[in-house]
Amino acid sequence: METVLITGAARRVGSLIAEDLAARGCFVWIHYHMHEQEARELCDKIKNHGGQSDHIKADLTDISQIDGMLTEISESLHGRLTTLINNASVFQNGTLQTTDSLDWDKTINTNLRAVWYLSGRFANRFPGAKRILTIGDASAESYMPQHSVYALSKHALKFLTEQMANEFAPDIRVNLISPGLVLKSEYETQNTWDNRQRRTLLKNDEIVESILAGIRFLMQDPGMTGAELIIDNGFRFNAGKANIR
Ligand SMILES: NC(=O)c1ccc[n+]([C@@H]2O[C@H](COP(=O)([O-])OP(=O)(O)OC[C@H]3O[C@@H](n4cnc5c(N)ncnc54)[C@H](OP(=O)(O)O)[C@@H]3O)[C@@H](O)[C@H]2O)c1
Repeated sequence: METVLITGAARRVGSLIAEDLAARGCFVWIHYHMHEQEARELCDKIKNHGGQSDHIKADLTDISQIDGMLTEISESLHGRLTTLINNASVFQNGTLQTTDSLDWDKTINTNLRAVWYLSGRFANRFPGAKRILTIGDASAESYMPQHSVYALSKHALKFLTEQMANEFAPDIRVNLISPGLVLKSEYETQNTWDNRQRRTLLKNDEIVESILAGIRFLMQDPGMTGAELIIDNGFRFNAGKANIR
């Protein structure tokens, strides 16, 4: 059985990935930080649909909590992890000049350092480890002035993915899946979101299904590593223009 740890999975995109993989027979560890009730409810929902799931808390900016989480998982009944999905992220507002060092640390430590640390420990501590999927952001290919440090962190994930693919081969495949616009963040106004949506090349509402299908593909595929799967309705080609409005 595939046993999958998904970070930041209590709600939004992570919860959709968790439900989809649980429906396909995976045991799903739902990691959360602040949203415990949502994590519990999601676990119950998965179990009510015949799936298998458990939830676990950790602040991913705290290395000792990452270690604690992995120890708890490895000592549990469903401790044989095969897959890590790095989904947790923070999406803060700020240009390079308006971002203070606290926001810098929060963004870089959640979006980049935690991915590096958790992936490395996953690779070392779980003999059954087979794959790491990290959720990037196709928009980070271009200038994102309102979210400069976020873009920097997501951009760096591409190189980190390539490095990990080299280091963890041949046992573990490491890939990046980069969505475009999926769900509006609380840090964006409706106006900004609508403006960005208008810039997508493909006018379809199926992006969530495409992302889930991409993850299912990466769960099965034996030949891809160090690669980026971009699923963004073509938004990246116009993201630069949309981001500066
Ligand atoms: N939404 C989009 O349109 C979009 C577009 C492109 C890429 N993406 C990427 O897709 C992924 C999911 O997107 P999303 O919008 O669903 O993400 P999100 O809501 O911004 O964040 C997902 C989860 O990350 C967790 N998290 C944040 N800080 C944490 C910390 N210090 N320790 C542990 N967990 C922490 C939170 O868990 P708790 O709630 O439990 O605190 C949060 O629910 C992200 O990697 C994002 O960058 C999203």
